[in-house]
Amino acid sequence: MIKKGELYYPDKNFQKKALINNRAIYKKASANPVKFWEGLAKEIFWQKKWKKAFEHKPPYFKWFVGGKINITESALDKNLEEKKNKVALIWEPEAVGERQRIFSYYDLFREVNRLANALKKMGAQKGDRIGIYSPMIPEVIISMLACARIGAVHAVVFSAFSPKALQVRLQDTEAKILITADGYFRRGKVVNLKQGADEGIKETKVEKIVVVKRAGNEIFFQPDRDFWYQDLIKNESDWCPAEAMDSEDPLFILYTSGSTGKPKGCVHSCGGYGVQAKFTAKWIFDLKEDDIFWSTADVGWITGHTYSCYGPLLNGATFVIFEGAPDYPDPGRWCEIIDKYGITTFYTAPTAIRMFEKYGVEYPRKYKLDSLQILGSVGEPIDKAAWQWYFKEVGREKCPLVDTWWQTETGGILITSLPGIGPFKPTFAGIHFPGVNFAILNEKGKSCKIGEQGNLVILPPFAPGLLRGIYKNPEKYLETYWSECGNKIYFTSDGACKDKNGLIRIVGRIDDVIKVAGHRIATGELESAIALHSDITECAVVGVADEIKGEVPVAFVVCKTDKSAENIKEEVVRQIRKEIGPIATPKEVYLVKDLPKTRSGKIMRRILRKLFTSEELGDLSALSNPESVEEIKLILR
Ligand code: WTA
Repeated sequence: MIKKGELYYPDKNFQKKALINNRAIYKKASANPVKFWEGLAKEIFWQKKWKKAFEHKPPYFKWFVGGKINITESALDKNLEEKKNKVALIWEPEAVGERQRIFSYYDLFREVNRLANALKKMGAQKGDRIGIYSPMIPEVIISMLACARIGAVHAVVFSAFSPKALQVRLQDTEAKILITADGYFRRGKVVNLKQGADEGIKETKVEKIVVVKRAGNEIFFQPDRDFWYQDLIKNESDWCPAEAMDSEDPLFILYTSGSTGKPKGCVHSCGGYGVQAKFTAKWIFDLKEDDIFWSTADVGWITGHTYSCYGPLLNGATFVIFEGAPDYPDPGRWCEIIDKYGITTFYTAPTAIRMFEKYGVEYPRKYKLDSLQILGSVGEPIDKAAWQWYFKEVGREKCPLVDTWWQTETGGILITSLPGIGPFKPTFAGIHFPGVNFAILNEKGKSCKIGEQGNLVILPPFAPGLLRGIYKNPEKYLETYWSECGNKIYFTSDGACKDKNGLIRIVGRIDDVIKVAGHRIATGELESAIALHSDITECAVVGVADEIKGEVPVAFVVCKTDKSAENIKEEVVRQIRKEIGPIATPKEVYLVKDLPKTRSGKIMRRILRKLFTSEELGDLSALSNPESVEEIKLILR
């Protein structure tokens, strides 16, 4: 890498070999973004070509209108022509001594087809939603693809979410089939996932459960309702015709957190999402024939969907998925996996980087890491120290570091510098992906000046992979994304600014969403969970800075009974784990007499947040109970 002032550029050698190494692509794409995306769409397989590339009836839009597609044909069938025996997927189990599993494109193709046939026999049809609650095992990828093969809409629920969180999502999707596993390994222990699934399907429409045998743990098995995955596919045919999907038909629903308590089901389309997944993966990770790509995100999140499933497969690439915890059995595990497979592209979250930084340089220095060519970061702002550490200790100062900004809603990466072009600047994600038009607007709706912070928005024609709706909640879709700046501008809910080079720096969310270790959680979701506790009359949750996790939630609760602070903390933590899952566990729970409120009774979370920073609290005279702030200050001291 070449350093010029604060900016880093790929060296000549890297540049020369990179798939995209000429800035001209940006100009060409901006001149006619629709034509640009249309050109890319031609490189995937369509059963029938579209009639119109882009249609905009604000706030609604469509891409590749009239086209018929099944994304699994590009991800699997087409790869059989030249890459039949190429390794598609490598699965690394958590236990060090256990054998990895390797699937060629042909293996994957056959298994997906078999499962697709089995799902059909179970009654699944085009348009049906199918829930997936699975650990990181090959079968989760196979399940997603099998759904796509028959036109069923998959809704993956993160395996570490609680049964209650699973239930809420299954209720919303009205899925009749759930695919899960008996259990999986986490830090050497078996987690009984099936038990969670059994609980999670209560009061839902789920009639059948497909259970992958993974951990061999004992589970409750209900004949006629539960089916072993391995038995189901055993005698199925290797061929299942790919359902003809309309370009705009939904491919999947993935739930994410918004500013309220209820998770939102982001709906992604078959055509647009597919095109974007393929080309963002190809160009941003510079995927070439011999590369081995490893994105560490769990498939329960959008990063897992786009870069541990669709993106690499649509490029006929080889990729790794890992079942376990990154630092188990020791903090060298990730480096060991990089060396073991000769990973060329490594994509992870700043939280993980900060965690490894804390463990110390001896771990990365024990390993060669010389196969690495590109590093990626995603999910939260990466601070300068973590950037430098990652760049130096993992990438050995030779790998471009792509800081990639995107959201569950955008379906794929939309802001980052391309590895063969650059420039890279710590704490700046970079520039827009070719063919995507961003603006940063101030309160008046005008473009911000250099360095001025404002709202990050996307302008038409957006990107083909942008969400098409919130499942069964059209009002929320309009309100969240298309009302803040009018119905022709997509509102990201992120604050951002630009530097003189045009590089975009993401400052963070401007709504009540926090990123806890890169996981997206709404403070409202936590508040709804806490409010279910019968002794608690009021509560407020805010995100505060954390050295490793970026942000963590802290809760303030007002109790109507005489409970000790210790007891209430324990109960609130239990409540949140039950309703959402351990990832949302608050760092602290403060028992207070009163919460700061405006005269109209609105809880002033902004003030609570400021109590954790060095910021001035400002004028408290608008509060109906300024004394509450003093009381809380004493508790925090
Ligand atoms: C944040 C994750 C800074 C941002 C793919 C966004 C980032 C939210 C970055 C979406 C980045 C994502 N730098 N912040 N490179 N990438 N974010 O839906 O606030 O889990 O709105 O999607 O993560 O989170 P989500």
